[in-house]
Amino acid sequence: MSWEKLYASRMSQIAPSDIRERMKLLGDRRLIQLGVGLPDPAVVPYPQIAQAAADIFADPDLARASMQYGPSEGYEPLRAWLVDYMGTLGVPCEPENIMLVGGSQQGFDFIGKLLISPGDPVMVEAPSFIGALRAFDGYEPAYRLLPPDASAWDVATVGPAKFCYASPEFRNPTGTCLTLDERHRLVDLATTAGMLLVEDGCYEKLRYDGETLPSLQSLDVARSGGIENSRVLYTNTFSKTISPSLRVGWVAGPSELIRKLVLIKQGGDLVSSTLNQMIALRVAANYLTESVEAGRRLYRARRDTMLAALTAHMPADVTFTRPDGGLYVWLELPPSIDGDEFAIRALEKHGVSTISGTSFYPVEPRRNTLRLSFSLASDAEIEEGVRILAALVGEMRDARHAGR
Ligand SMILES: Cc1ncc(COP(=O)(O)O)c(C=O)c1O
Repeated sequence: MSWEKLYASRMSQIAPSDIRERMKLLGDRRLIQLGVGLPDPAVVPYPQIAQAAADIFADPDLARASMQYGPSEGYEPLRAWLVDYMGTLGVPCEPENIMLVGGSQQGFDFIGKLLISPGDPVMVEAPSFIGALRAFDGYEPAYRLLPPDASAWDVATVGPAKFCYASPEFRNPTGTCLTLDERHRLVDLATTAGMLLVEDGCYEKLRYDGETLPSLQSLDVARSGGIENSRVLYTNTFSKTISPSLRVGWVAGPSELIRKLVLIKQGGDLVSSTLNQMIALRVAANYLTESVEAGRRLYRARRDTMLAALTAHMPADVTFTRPDGGLYVWLELPPSIDGDEFAIRALEKHGVSTISGTSFYPVEPRRNTLRLSFSLASDAEIEEGVRILAALVGEMRDARHAGR
């Protein structure tokens, strides 16, 4: 049976994610995982999660609440905790400025539903987080790419858009950040273009070196006199600091936009798991600092191992980023090498999982690019994996030159 003609037009834009496909291979112990950016189980706070659940079930009132529907906006004590958290990021706000979502991925879907009609211009960095692109794809946007050079960030050059999705901190996939000047310029562009900014703060806590910079939202709140006048919708998550399985993330922004997003959540899943939000609150309130510190220690060391291995083994015509945080390094391979072909060959012939860079562009992919993650593999695996990839670069480049 062919179902093609029954599908909605939006399905033509929805393609499988390379990352989700790679995750299916996670059980395979023979692979060296330099593909997906999953938190290492060593830094998931299992005892604190277990204790939080035990405390909830030991108290009859909390236990009843935990097994019940809750408000679509989210578990009130967690919203209140997030008000304080956002304050530490330079964003004074109230509970009505915050809604809980089932991971920031759900936030992107709801934001797409709120803002994108088919054909609407939506601006994204290139490359951008594939999950956000997949969420927006379903609403059939016409993508515009934010030029890499901030001197071109004016409406005359980039045109108007409904919003611009940006990750100022250790973006997935490149690991790079926006400079302070670029943050100011992006807020300027949003103001003159009359568009919203959708700021992804996913890796905000995973900084290993350098100075913390203000978020786009905090800059805009300071300029506009408060969150109600700000044009930034900020998303963040406990996925990288506690556990992705809780599926607890949040969106912060002007209360009018939050109210609309809550209506969308009521048509989506009504409410995020009350139990998971209660657990997230307890672990965040009692243990977030330690949990983040454990992550930083582990990932900083792995980042150093990966950069040392890349420096030692990669041929001179491969360039790579040197991230101060996050979980990823971005490679530019020699121009003759296609990232898709490279990633398939690395996986199938050499047992090294990577993600082709082409997946991270909504249009006009740079084909000779590759994302590596250092979150999950041991130091020895990173060293071995990078050595194998470096040899593969040489092999594929030489084959191209020889016309094979
Ligand atoms: C940049 C970025 N934003 C958001 C997410 C999704 O996070 P969540 O688990 O909260 O949906 C990820 C997950 O890898 C990510 O890399």
